[in-house]
Amino acid sequence: MLLDIRSLSKTYPNGTQALKSVSFTVERGEFVAVIGLSGSGKSTLLRCINRLIEPTSGTILFEGHDVTHIKGEALRRYRQRIGMIFQQFNLIGQASVLKNVLMGALGSVSTIDSILGRFPQSLHEMAMRNLQIVGIADKASVRADSLSGGQQQRVAIARALMQEPQLLLADEPVASLDPATSHSVMRYLGYINRQLGTTIICNLHFLSLVREYATRAIALRNGEIVFDGSPSEITEEWFRHIYGEDAVEVEIR
Ligand SMILES: Nc1ncnc2c1ncn2[C@@H]1O[C@H](COP(=O)(O)OP(=O)(O)O)[C@@H](O)[C@H]1O
Ligand SMILES: [Mg+2]
Repeated sequence: MLLDIRSLSKTYPNGTQALKSVSFTVERGEFVAVIGLSGSGKSTLLRCINRLIEPTSGTILFEGHDVTHIKGEALRRYRQRIGMIFQQFNLIGQASVLKNVLMGALGSVSTIDSILGRFPQSLHEMAMRNLQIVGIADKASVRADSLSGGQQQRVAIARALMQEPQLLLADEPVASLDPATSHSVMRYLGYINRQLGTTIICNLHFLSLVREYATRAIALRNGEIVFDGSPSEITEEWFRHIYGEDAVEVEIR
């Protein structure tokens, strides 16, 4: 088991209960899609897992170790094992694609070397291999902001791969992309999941993408898990349970 989430709750300082006693486990190699309406707690869940925000109560076990309250060097090492991809690709636009990917290896070079932009040859080679994985090695030397949105997200994926992550967390990675480009990015995530064995937890809006790429779907509604199973089991009845009676499948699809 890679991840064991037990009774995880998060109440923000303003009183919003974003997660209410959420429990689930994730095995190595799974591709989990987290679905649910906007505001259902998907981002809060991912941010609790990599400890960007502090859970109010509950436990997070990673490879059997309690990481709920780790700090300092232990937290830094934990985060090093988890890659993160966001809706907005968070690249440095005026830097080259290769430089952006190398930034993903910052945890493994000294501060002075990173300030001077000195990365060992082995990391250069690794960055190029990761750019090949996402099919964009030919763009290594161009400015990141000259790429299309889908290409930029693939650079962000290559950057995350520099950590050789055990777990890749993706928060609506295709939400700002058109449908065709979304499929392209999801296909690379699927390839990484199957070929590199990287476990993926991905917040997704469109059910069609969930059905095509995820091995498992966890649905949140008002901070609670209301479905956990195979994407193929999400019937129309489940759909209404997850998204509410007023939701129209074509809009969520
Ligand atoms: N920093 C915050 N402070 C207060 N409330 C927040 C904060 N971030 C999110 N929320 C609230 O927590 C709930 C869950 O939000 P979020 O995790 O972003 O959901 P989702 O990613 O599914 O849209 C929402 O009601 C949202 O308004
Ligand atoms: Mg969100």
